[in-house]
Amino acid sequence: ALAGKCPFGGDRVGGTFTTPPTLEEWYPDRLRVEMLHQNGPQANPLADFDYKSAFEAIDYQQLKADIRSFLTSSVAWWPSDYGNYGPQMIRMAWHSAGTYRIADGRGGAGEGLQRFAPISSWWDNGNTDKSRRLIWPIKQKYGSALSWADLMVLTGTVALEIMGFPTYGFAGGRRDAWEADNATYWGPELWDPTNVEAFDSMVTRDKRWRGKNGDADYDLENPLAASHQALIYVNPEGPYANGDPMGSARDIRITFTRMAMNDEETVALIAGGHAFGKSHGMVKADKVGPPPEIAPMEAMGLGWHNPEGPGFAEYTMTNGIEGSWVPNPTQWDNDYLTNLFKFEWKQTKSPAGALQWEPVDSDAPRTPDAHVPGRSHPLMMMTSDIALKTDPVYREICLKFLNDFDYFTLQFSKAWYKLTHRDMGPKERYVGPEKKLEDDLLWQDPIPPVDHPLIDGADIAALKEEILGSGHSVSDLAFAAFSSASTHRNTDKRGGANGARIALAPQKDWAVNRRAMPVIESLKGIMAGFNGRAGGGKKVSLADLIVLGGCAAVEKAARDAGASVTVPFAPGRMDTTDALTDADSFEWLKPIVDGFRNYVDDSFGQITQGRVSPEQVFLDRAHLLALTAPEWVALTGGLRVLNLNHDGSNHGIFTDRVGVLTNDFFTVLTSMDYEWKKADGAGMAFALEDRATGQTKYTATRCDLVFGSNAQLRAVAEVYAGADGQERFLRDFVKVWDKVMTLDRYDLKG
Ligand code: HEM
Repeated sequence: ALAGKCPFGGDRVGGTFTTPPTLEEWYPDRLRVEMLHQNGPQANPLADFDYKSAFEAIDYQQLKADIRSFLTSSVAWWPSDYGNYGPQMIRMAWHSAGTYRIADGRGGAGEGLQRFAPISSWWDNGNTDKSRRLIWPIKQKYGSALSWADLMVLTGTVALEIMGFPTYGFAGGRRDAWEADNATYWGPELWDPTNVEAFDSMVTRDKRWRGKNGDADYDLENPLAASHQALIYVNPEGPYANGDPMGSARDIRITFTRMAMNDEETVALIAGGHAFGKSHGMVKADKVGPPPEIAPMEAMGLGWHNPEGPGFAEYTMTNGIEGSWVPNPTQWDNDYLTNLFKFEWKQTKSPAGALQWEPVDSDAPRTPDAHVPGRSHPLMMMTSDIALKTDPVYREICLKFLNDFDYFTLQFSKAWYKLTHRDMGPKERYVGPEKKLEDDLLWQDPIPPVDHPLIDGADIAALKEEILGSGHSVSDLAFAAFSSASTHRNTDKRGGANGARIALAPQKDWAVNRRAMPVIESLKGIMAGFNGRAGGGKKVSLADLIVLGGCAAVEKAARDAGASVTVPFAPGRMDTTDALTDADSFEWLKPIVDGFRNYVDDSFGQITQGRVSPEQVFLDRAHLLALTAPEWVALTGGLRVLNLNHDGSNHGIFTDRVGVLTNDFFTVLTSMDYEWKKADGAGMAFALEDRATGQTKYTATRCDLVFGSNAQLRAVAEVYAGADGQERFLRDFVKVWDKVMTLDRYDLKG
């Protein structure tokens, strides 16, 4: 009854159903502009919900009490190991946060993405579907006032607490995503989620590594941070499941560094986490059913059906390795490191056939069965655990932790706080009574709080005049402001104009920012002058002045186009310091391609190996700036006529009135009076010939012409190129300019 008849033959269910291949399959290299609109308000049932206030209004102590009593309960459909759901919940929270990668700020615990494919269905997330379903009654009780993202992290944190671990703090404020994240590149493997046996074959298909483990230049493709597709970090059995602890240590170091963790934090997290719970490997992987995303309908979103016994408790199959690291898996103590070092370990196999380790010494302590009273097992270590004892640097850290349990405890509590909060951005976004604002932690990219009166309307007007009179062009002023603000990443809320980090290392030394430096020097002078003469402790920050210079420039450029516009400006940014800046971690924010400023880094070819085009990376940056396609188009068209190319080149400056805010970029881009031709062999540079005269009129890069060659971007460009386009362009440009300048102003938007 569902099937209708297609007039051209063949049965079809309906226009939107059963219609593969998708556009991606037809055109694998197409620019997926639509990714800019994913997880938009249309998908969000809580789009206008004030989550911050709702969370603040929760009885937080009652919430924690509810979580505590759940953790020590057990339900028949998925009984708790050792009568305690704590370890299982710690793993859920760790996997929620552990997808974070510093290269693009994507992944992480911030949006509850573990609920959606592909993450929900990764082999490494086996049975986290049960963990989330177990806490549904708590989620249901608190409803929209408690996001999944917050609940997952809080449950893991309370789990640590009930097992005797003093946690560092907890901040709420994570807002859930409402659809699968289709924008994140998780790696090149052709992983087959219908075939769990492919776990090994996917290793052989592994294309993300350069060189072989152990080679001097062995490295992982950026922005990835997991050693294999469908894993959170590394294969517990070692690289290629080969049981090599030193090779495992190499992978751990690379992947945890990509998660922004140093060696000490890495050891604290692994040794701390594996003080709890157990691994599950009673059944061969090929017996287990499909993951949640493709499980049968009656499974209602749960995957990995296990046909053995009841499919849970002492029959549980998750990763494939079987056993616990410690004699008391529900108590915070130093037994993990004690036993790791006290005993020699030998390789053995789990019932599921996975490679693991047990003590050579038969007198070593044993660990109780998680379900069957009176039964016990040898202790277990994974190859990735033995790695901590094998690698000389990790080993030193382990010994320090072994000898000083309080120090270890403190380091683990801080690392757990960082792991679970690091993609939340500035502390203004933290909510709840345990948010721990008093400490400045370097990974939070601290900016000192406002401690003085701010400039008022009259000051703003006078400062704009002074900046415009400072001898810098509109282009240079706008360039400095844009360069300062555009490091922001909506993914992990880092970067942005606040703090004026553009004036500090490493940003001040980036080639893409070079053109901004003379402007910043002048603005420092203007700042010193103003702060010297302003009374009553009033001050203006460099961060505010850089943005204000941009406002003044855009207003002048609009005036020169015959329009009077006011670019919104809200003072309140502060300047931070070198001491409050983790320079290494900011280096990751350096663009490889910044199409806004027509910048392609020298390393582009070597890094991308021809796999990615500049416009694809440009799209990525537009996504990091949370732009829609119309915003991306309007912004770039405006930046071009303002001449914001980093090197002052003429590419894409399709106007004879440089520095005037016109829609000229779009009229030239869409005009058939001209013909575009490749100007180099690589197809990176182009020249535009006037069809009438044969003269070369303008030149362009891929990041210019993409707005005319890509159908979706061209559709928007046509709006601005229309006879009625100028006014709309001006309005939209000013709006998106302001949006970029205030992306990091969480103090204004909450
Ligand atoms: C369990 C691997 C790091 C906390 C497991 C399991 C594996 C594993 C294979 C067994 C899953 C199962 O079958 O149930 C690894 C590897 C790591 C790593 C390879 C990095 C090299 C961490 C970290 C934490 C953590 C950083 C937390 C801070 C846990 C906990 C369990 C667990 C609590 C027990 C879960 C339960 O009892 O159900 N880990 N892990 N692990 N992991 Fe890790």
